[in-house]
Amino acid sequence: MGKKVGVVGGTGFLGAHLVQLLADAGFEPVVIARRPQRVQEVLPRLGVEARYGDVRNPGSLGQALKGCTYVHCVAGAMGGVFTSPSPQRREAAVRVNVEGTVNVLRAARDARAERVVVTSSCSTRYQHRGSLANEDSPAFGAEIVRDSYVRSKVLEEQACTAFSRGTGLPVTAILPGAMVGPRDTSPTPLGAALLARLNGESRGGVGLEGAFPVVDVRDVARAHLAAISAESPDDAYLVVADTVRTRDWQELFSRVTGIPNDAGAIPPVVAMPMALMFEAISWVRRTPAQFNRNAVRHARQGQQYDCTRARSELGIAFRPLETTVQDTVCWYAANGWITDDARLAIVNSALDRAAYDARPVSLSPQPSGLRA
Ligand SMILES: NC(=O)c1ccc[n+]([C@@H]2O[C@H](COP(=O)([O-])OP(=O)(O)OC[C@H]3O[C@@H](n4cnc5c(N)ncnc54)[C@H](OP(=O)(O)O)[C@@H]3O)[C@@H](O)[C@H]2O)c1
Repeated sequence: MGKKVGVVGGTGFLGAHLVQLLADAGFEPVVIARRPQRVQEVLPRLGVEARYGDVRNPGSLGQALKGCTYVHCVAGAMGGVFTSPSPQRREAAVRVNVEGTVNVLRAARDARAERVVVTSSCSTRYQHRGSLANEDSPAFGAEIVRDSYVRSKVLEEQACTAFSRGTGLPVTAILPGAMVGPRDTSPTPLGAALLARLNGESRGGVGLEGAFPVVDVRDVARAHLAAISAESPDDAYLVVADTVRTRDWQELFSRVTGIPNDAGAIPPVVAMPMALMFEAISWVRRTPAQFNRNAVRHARQGQQYDCTRARSELGIAFRPLETTVQDTVCWYAANGWITDDARLAIVNSALDRAAYDARPVSLSPQPSGLRA
């Protein structure tokens, strides 16, 4: 039996890939989840141990992390922070990221874990439009830090550094861009946009003009795995494959899927008032906004990142984005997420399925593959 590795949030998008990778690498992953029954749904056939643990409930974490040599905290509040119309709900969600992570650190220290790896975000390293940010760049500008999600991640990292200094527990932070990849079932905002385009929904046909940082979720999982044995444990590592322009992303989607590129990008001067209107409608109707002003700001900023540290110290070679998009679309097609038959036929004839099946960690739960 390999060493036990606790994965708090192992039922999530990143978490499930990480659990699979740990098992493949000979570790004994232990999934800590607030709904342990989901483990069988998310990771069928893997047979991993599941334990109950809610990061908001410190009492639940002591038992959950017992015997774990390493701990990954990949639990986090995402959806509610971006889409909830209520500032109170957004704030409640960010508390999961900050207080919840500290609760995990305390329990890991009490369980005598040797190292903790946490997932923050590359957006804590914004500096200037057109510049290259690295791990030492500060979060920049009130506009960006005012974003409740970014603020929660900045506070989370500060709390981790303080805890590590105070207790000597090594804590490594992984800072990914927007993650894309197979098995995005929640799905993330980027996954939802991709899926909407695959299904020919009008909201999939427009993006915000600018650029955004992207990375394959499987490369983020590999960074977490490698961080267990990184030489300098208290470091942070940016993991971003590329900052891609919206129009290039739309073009890439068409190249991979065979679906003609009829998508457009809304310039910030138009997007800002639209976002304000969406936010007002969302507030009145209590439904999620199509996009908000923070999303417009992020796209306009289009921050680029220098990931030399992850490449040299963690040995990460980022997958080409074309492979990422292809594998993601393959997974959606293979698992019945493309409901528009005409589009599914186009996608099926464009996809390189043999290459997808041959790739490691493709995580297709239905090896029978794409629908004919
Ligand atoms: N997705 C991205 O593009 C992206 C980019 C940068 C950074 N990140 C960060 O990466 C991490 C993972 O993101 P993801 O996309 O994998 O998110 P996800 O799919 O939403 O998964 C989040 C996981 O956290 C768990 N969780 C939420 N609240 C919890 C609580 N109170 N106690 C215990 N577990 C709880 C969820 O459990 P349930 O299964 O019960 O819901 C789920 O397993 C997060 O910290 C996120 O902020 C994500």
